Amino acid sequence: MSSEKAIAVQINGIGRELSAPANETLLDCLRRHGFFEVKSGCEKGDCGACAVQIDGEPVDSCLTLAWTVEGRSVTTLEGLNDTDNPHPLIAAFLEHGAVQCGYCTPGIMIAAEALLRETPEPSDDDIAIALSGNLCRCTGYTKIFAAIKQAGEVLRAGGNDD
Ligand code: FES
Ligand code: FES
Repeated sequence: MSSEKAIAVQINGIGRELSAPANETLLDCLRRHGFFEVKSGCEKGDCGACAVQIDGEPVDSCLTLAWTVEGRSVTTLEGLNDTDNPHPLIAAFLEHGAVQCGYCTPGIMIAAEALLRETPEPSDDDIAIALSGNLCRCTGYTKIFAAIKQAGEVLRAGGNDD
């Protein structure tokens, strides 16, 4: 008898049905279903590489059991990367060179998008707090902070500037 459970969930605005054993993390489940933009790092809540939004709130998917997202809305980086209307964070990170190896980038953008929704003009302290669960070993964070501030400016001006 299979111990897999069917999980009805919205992922990036599209209704999906996932399947997972009761003890599978959301991280492993999403990657097993092809959502490879959700990165696997420490798998213990330290690095933030695996961050997704659940109902708009950033969470570490490695610390979340997959079945708990039944009936909820999950957003991954691809949810911000709509080719017709990419989130301004995408262009700002590229412009500022805030992506180097890129492994931290999906989780950082997930945290940054939630920050900008709540705090459209974030201070350095606001950004530091929002990214306190996200580790980047490459950029030194200066470029990431600049990119997030620029994306905030674009959003406050009404959206994409291209
Ligand atoms: S992989 Fe989840 S916090 Fe590091
Ligand atoms: S760009 Fe390499 S870990 Fe952040």
